Amino acid sequence: MMNNTQNTPSSGDRGISILLIGSGGREHALAWKIAQSPKKVKLFIAPGNAGTSAVGTNLDINVSDFEAVKKAALENVIDMVVVGPEDPLVKGIVDFFEHDDALKHIPVVGPNKIAAQLEGSKDFSKKFMVKYRIPTARYLSVSKENMDKGADFLKSLKPPYVLKADGLAAGKGVLILDNLNQALSELESMLGGKFGKAGDTVLIEEFLTGIECSVFVITDGKNYKILPEAKDYKRIGEGDTGLNTGGMGAVSPVNFADEVFMQKVEERIIKPTIDGLQQEGITYKGFIFFGLIKVDGEPYLIEYNARMGDPETEVVMLRLKSDLVELLEGVADGNLNEKLVEFDDRFATTVMLVSGGYPEDYEKGKIITGLENVSESIVFHAGTKERNGETVTNGGRVIAVSSFGRNKEEALAVSYKNAERIQFEGRYFRKDIGFDL
Ligand code: AMP
Ligand code: GLY
Repeated sequence: MMNNTQNTPSSGDRGISILLIGSGGREHALAWKIAQSPKKVKLFIAPGNAGTSAVGTNLDINVSDFEAVKKAALENVIDMVVVGPEDPLVKGIVDFFEHDDALKHIPVVGPNKIAAQLEGSKDFSKKFMVKYRIPTARYLSVSKENMDKGADFLKSLKPPYVLKADGLAAGKGVLILDNLNQALSELESMLGGKFGKAGDTVLIEEFLTGIECSVFVITDGKNYKILPEAKDYKRIGEGDTGLNTGGMGAVSPVNFADEVFMQKVEERIIKPTIDGLQQEGITYKGFIFFGLIKVDGEPYLIEYNARMGDPETEVVMLRLKSDLVELLEGVADGNLNEKLVEFDDRFATTVMLVSGGYPEDYEKGKIITGLENVSESIVFHAGTKERNGETVTNGGRVIAVSSFGRNKEEALAVSYKNAERIQFEGRYFRKDIGFDL
């Protein structure tokens, strides 16, 4: 078990050495913020990208290989690990550190394997929501054995129909279907292995009509702090059309997440979650992402994620005035209640530049030019790498262009001006981020 009373050694002469796991825009934004700490910080990012190497040292390791992470942590005398993406969390990187004699003194900011089930299993998270009376869509979990019950439940609902694979399916496991026959046949193919084992259990959900936003909390397991909220734009096409992506842009603050709404979110969703985890005997240390929908003024929880959002982090970190390292230490030491969280009142926006073809097939290795022409925006790298002294594309989502403004329009104008200055073959971005706010 992680020792809650140990103190992370930031006060020592050596400062604190942090290993950040991940390689996307979220990790560049976290790294950028960590690097601004007034504390003496030595930052490593594994594996990182062409942007993170400007604020820390990239370690070229496969982070699914926990033995390789261990070697890197010991070699670099790491004092704290921060996990960006869900995959290592769901696979148990926190438990691996806790159960290893050479590593157990190193706190890991991120939930352990059981706690990460809030994201790793939609069946687990829905059961949790229902048990702790957290408002969410009505649902039924079905497997091959009770598929007929699933069909009956589907017939009792009005369209559109929501089907979700229980397990992680690379963001593709949620289907929203307009007609009943389609839904019945998709249910059959999901249970038949369309998403592999992730679809052994499928959730059928009532469709909620409303507007979505993301709320983030950092918790030490007992205390929590709410971070700036954000809205992301998941579809590839303007007007929220076309295929789902990891996220094409984000805005913070969110105008409809006003004080009254946020109070309801805290009382009905955040507090019961933190209390429920404690009642379950689950120690959750890290970030919780609440995927919310506002229906007739009331908040409902669509999903949990066991991590920060991407691209939401690329706006949340702009608006977090407080020292992130101080908060991370609060998580490790169990005294987050003593820390102060202050927000920047300005608006922050981010616009994601993606590879042509994304989220379907796309090419990598395109040379990125014009980065030196950017002014006023903060460029967070997502899918990039260095190749012979040049920065090249290395993923579907390539670069997030983040900006401040006195209002949403001003921040967006800066992001768009700079988005135009960055070039690579096939570059695409949505020109309507924030259109619905
Ligand atoms: P999830 O992976 O659970 O966040 O689902 C992906 C997206 O599907 C969400 O961001 C929503 O836009 C949509 N969605 C999921 N569940 C529902 C629901 N019950 N009602 C309406 N939309 C939903
Ligand atoms: N932007 C949504 C996510 O990170 O899951």
